[in-house]
Amino acid sequence: MRKKAIVGAILAAASLAAGAALAGGDAAAGKAKAAVCVGCHGADGISTNPLWPNLAGQKAPYIVKQLKAFRAGTRQDPLMGPIAKNLSDQDMEDLAAYFSGLER
Ligand code: HEC
Repeated sequence: MRKKAIVGAILAAASLAAGAALAGGDAAAGKAKAAVCVGCHGADGISTNPLWPNLAGQKAPYIVKQLKAFRAGTRQDPLMGPIAKNLSDQDMEDLAAYFSGLER
C-alpha cells in the first residue's frame, strides 16, 4: 500500500471509532454512574488536585479512548487502572456523554 492510502485507512478507522463513541452515550445514565468518579475528578468535573485531570467539557471520544486504554493497560495509572477495569463499553460511553456536556 502507498503511504497516502495507509494514512487514509487509519483516518477512516479513527473517524468510525469516534462516530461510534458519539452515538452510544447517555448523559443521564452517565451522571448516575459518575458518583464513583467525582471524588477525584470533582462534582462538576473540575478536579481540585493538580495531578487529577478535569473532565468537564472534554471530548467524549477522547474520554472513551482513555478509559479503554486504562482498562487494557496500555495507559497505566495506579488510581485509574482498577476503576476502568470495572467499566463496560456502555458505562464508558455514558460517562463520556455526561462529562463532555459539563461546562469547563
Ligand atoms: C482515586 C481517584 C480517581 C477516581 C475515583 C477516578 N479517577 Fe480518573 N483519573 C485519576 C487520575 C490520577 C488520572 C490521571 C492519570 C494519569 O496521570 O495518567 C485520571 C485520568 C482520567 C482520565 C484521562 C483524562 C485525560 O485527560 O487524559 C479519564 C477519562 C478519567 N480519569 C475518567 C474517570 C472516570 C470516568 C471515573 C469514574 C468511573 C474516574 N476517572 C475515577 C484519578 C481518579
